[in-house]
Amino acid sequence: KMKNNQLSDNFFYRNDKLFCDEHSLSGIAKSYGTPLFVYSESTIENNLKNMRSEIINKPVDLCYAVKANPSLSLIKIISSLDCGFDVVSGGELRRVLSAAAKLKPKIVFSGVGKTIDELDFALSCGISCINVESISELKKLNERAKVAHLKAPISIRINPDIDPKTHPYISTGLRENKFGLSISAGYEAYKLADKLENLKVIGVDCHIGSQIIEISPFIDATEKVLEFVSNLEDLNISIDEINLGGGLGICYKSEHPPTAKHFFSTILNKVELWAHCKNKKTPRITFEFGRSIVGNSGLLICKVIHLKETDFGKNFAIVDAAMNDILRPSLYNAYHEVFPLEKREGKQIKSWDIVGPICESGDWLAKDRLLHIEEGALLAFASAGAYCSSMSSNYNSRVKSSEVLVRTAGDVVEIKKRENFHDLINGEYLLDY
Ligand code: LLP
Repeated sequence: KMKNNQLSDNFFYRNDKLFCDEHSLSGIAKSYGTPLFVYSESTIENNLKNMRSEIINKPVDLCYAVKANPSLSLIKIISSLDCGFDVVSGGELRRVLSAAAKLKPKIVFSGVGKTIDELDFALSCGISCINVESISELKKLNERAKVAHLKAPISIRINPDIDPKTHPYISTGLRENKFGLSISAGYEAYKLADKLENLKVIGVDCHIGSQIIEISPFIDATEKVLEFVSNLEDLNISIDEINLGGGLGICYKSEHPPTAKHFFSTILNKVELWAHCKNKKTPRITFEFGRSIVGNSGLLICKVIHLKETDFGKNFAIVDAAMNDILRPSLYNAYHEVFPLEKREGKQIKSWDIVGPICESGDWLAKDRLLHIEEGALLAFASAGAYCSSMSSNYNSRVKSSEVLVRTAGDVVEIKKRENFHDLINGEYLLDY
């Protein structure tokens, strides 16, 4: 087995063919067609086990950020691994309840724009915590909780003004971002929350961004949250929980994000030391990871439709997947590693731009990749388990791909069927004059 950091251990080459566990991916693609998302259940299990082994006997809750991949089947797997959930809409909450209600998972509700209906719904489901992001939301939630005759469990999201050193579109903890309240506004919000009768303050919440590959922004954020909690205690507002958000990055190209061991030992040390110095119990800590739980568990497989070579040195491989399946390159200039499903050693290698069929110049999936590519060949985009399917669309009236899961038990199951034309027009009315 040759090791590629962009692939989890469950994806590897055997005799020049890319496999997921005991299945050749070309075989899977032949059965289910392309474009196709393929997920490895074992990878998700291993990612969570790696995290879990660092927090044994620690007061830590892992909540999976559903936005990374809201598949019902993945939610079910993740819930069975003793994970809670972070949702950001009524739709995500309903997904968790449909797939995992039996296990009564911890569910936290984040987001700047929760509607009254969503707040009511969350309260009616007995949500574990609502992460409030504005004074307006705080007051409305208090009113809705009053109507429902209960106390809404809340944390308030503070924005610690930290640069997570990631893509500007996915950094959220800077002052200019729309998320949370500044430290100073945060104190005022907690003073207000403390007075509102139908709120129960349980924690302080913070999330600084996504695909963070250095430990320092996490340390800075933790320190700011702890200092904030100390200051709240001086105001006689006591905090039992802190939510440090998600954001732990993965390897797309050559990044070396902190390992689970490094991440948890560093952050937990900080919190434990703080609690020790203050002579108090270590607060419960929630993390809301998305990408680091599912990112490397999925590949997007596509087929090369046409090759188009030019006389000015650009070569285009036009594939049957597009920005509607995997938007990250177009939107963030993101890099996803490309792996041929069958390696052809000794064949001519060239630089290719891998592009989709959509009528936009921004519809590219990879640029300047040195590969041997033939028409009809199958290619896999790595690290496609997070924020690919979940950000997919029907642009250009393209149907959404099917998705399959390679189970730890060995079988391959379809977890989402390919859309058809009926799905595309479902809900539309045709004018009848
Ligand atoms: N908690 C909150 C409040 C969040 O906003 C997010 C992600 C997470 C947790 C999970 O973050 P993670 O552990 O997955 O980094 N579409 C972008 C990523 C957007 C992330 C938005 N918030 C991408 O494709 O890179």
